[in-house]
Amino acid sequence: MIYLDNGATTYFKPYEVKQAVNMAMNLYTANAGRGGHKLAQLSAEKIFEVREKVLKFFNANNHSCIFTSGCTNALNLGILGSVKQGGHVITTYLEHNSVLRPLEYLKGLGKIDYTVVENVDISHIENAILPNTYMIVTTQASNVTGERVDIKQVNKLCKKYNLLHLVDTAQGAGHIFDNLNDVDMIAFAGHKGLYGLGGVGGLVVKNGVELKPILFGGTGTMSESLVQPTNIPEGFEVGTVANIPIISVGAGIDYVMKNKSYILKKEQKLNSAMRDMLNNLDFITPYFTQNSVGVYSFNVGDLDSSYVSDYLNERFGICTRSGLHCAPLVHKHFGTQNRGMVRASLSSDNTLEDIKKLEIALKSLKSYLK
Ligand code: ALA
Repeated sequence: MIYLDNGATTYFKPYEVKQAVNMAMNLYTANAGRGGHKLAQLSAEKIFEVREKVLKFFNANNHSCIFTSGCTNALNLGILGSVKQGGHVITTYLEHNSVLRPLEYLKGLGKIDYTVVENVDISHIENAILPNTYMIVTTQASNVTGERVDIKQVNKLCKKYNLLHLVDTAQGAGHIFDNLNDVDMIAFAGHKGLYGLGGVGGLVVKNGVELKPILFGGTGTMSESLVQPTNIPEGFEVGTVANIPIISVGAGIDYVMKNKSYILKKEQKLNSAMRDMLNNLDFITPYFTQNSVGVYSFNVGDLDSSYVSDYLNERFGICTRSGLHCAPLVHKHFGTQNRGMVRASLSSDNTLEDIKKLEIALKSLKSYLK
């Protein structure tokens, strides 16, 4: 099989991650933060180590890391946990449903209103600011087109107007290395460019940001109180944390940091080969931008994206993702709500040969076109 669905999750997991998971299965399975005995302490220390690694990875010097079940959960926490009654939020057409649906939910409850900008240039974002705007939520890079949002510029805007800034790094982390130290809330996924297991992500929250819990339950602290504690991270990590996936993310971050220059160089080569290959096929409609997160969405003639994706899978063993990629507004923008797009997405483990095989497979589709 040729795996070109790294935008959904990386299939390749480094040896170091597998080793760490193996070791964690033997040593760190006790419940971190839910017991005073030695084994619970060992797990808790290990989780603490990973928290520190996450903060360092995002250059988040003045923040804490709340582990969640994934980036979706982290974005829900960032959006629902910081809601301001009667307020207004700005977001972009590039966002995933994990941003759009919580915003729409709050709007439906009559708590907020929100504006979606269809052009992420800073002037368009600034023009959308209203007197009651309290937050800007943007992705670092689109999971459909790879388009980047200029996080530094948006952050300056947030400072100027005293707005909260929430960034979704699901597609960017491990591929692009923005300095996010001034960002109020950074949501991340552990299983994509950080090469960890699925089932874990987190919200990195700047000290001083006021967050309300959205989940309630045991925290291992203040157990006598029926009121949910709001100290970060404990008050927000209800229930047993996912030790093994969290430890896998720690090992994934170590891998990325150790191999950063190799990853960047290799991905640059793959990105440029993929871009050139797709741009040279005249029966392809490209929707991707020149990007460094390895995301290439396109359509083939007038064929349905799911037909093409199934064809690539069944005839050539090539894994891609079709449809809307849970980002409906990008598709509305391009008029592809009905047939979706085929997305081929890269990781540093892909090869030029994989791209060549995709080219051969796509060329073989030409005879199916009208
Ligand atoms: N959000 C993931 C994707 O883009 C699952 O495929």
